[in-house]
Amino acid sequence: MVLRPMRRSDVDAVAAMEEILFGAEAWSPELLATEVTADPASRYYIVADDSGVIAGYGGLLAQRGQADVLTLAVAAHRWGEGIGGALLDGLLTEAARRGCTEVFLEVRVDNDRAQRLYRRRGFTDIGIRRGYYQPSGTDALVMRRISEPPGAGKKHLAGRHRDRRVR
Ligand SMILES: CC(C)(COP(=O)(O)OP(=O)(O)OC[C@H]1O[C@@H](n2cnc3c(N)ncnc32)[C@H](O)[C@@H]1OP(=O)(O)O)[C@@H](O)C(=O)NCCC(=O)NCCS
Repeated sequence: MVLRPMRRSDVDAVAAMEEILFGAEAWSPELLATEVTADPASRYYIVADDSGVIAGYGGLLAQRGQADVLTLAVAAHRWGEGIGGALLDGLLTEAARRGCTEVFLEVRVDNDRAQRLYRRRGFTDIGIRRGYYQPSGTDALVMRRISEPPGAGKKHLAGRHRDRRVR
């Protein structure tokens, strides 16, 4: 199993998984194709590729120091193997590499499994978007993960040793 960038040629397989996992709320193949070919400076889409078969995928929007997890999904028969966690870690690593110290996401209020995954990765609840998911009208829980900018800890320690000031 490898994590690799999503390609235009992956769109049909990903769209088929979308349909199964998200039903009426699935992204269309056209939207997926637009996203995958969108400006790579702001987007980052990856797939978990198991010998040529896509087991899962995730997408990130990252710009101006802030990132959003746009999508994350794993084929149902592969749940619980750590693939979702690995994909999310891949997105979070890329967000950090791009200097994003805040990562946001929306998740259905009734999606306990995904929420558990996000909480384990340090996301906390910050609000509710009423009726966010259409056509079902289900509310979204908005979650956020804050990380220190690279080197922040080091600077803090260096400062403390240099002049013994503790912030
Ligand atoms: C949410 C989803 C991406 C998780 O993918 P996954 O590959 O099953 O995730 P993992 O195996 O890495 O497990 C993630 C977490 O799920 C939980 N989990 C794992 N196995 C579980 C099980 N058998 N029962 C309940 N929870 C379980 C654990 O909390 C785990 O966290 P950990 O890695 O810190 O132990 C996947 O269930 C999915 O695609 N769901 C449908 C689409 C969806 O809801 N996407 C999120 C949209 S916001």
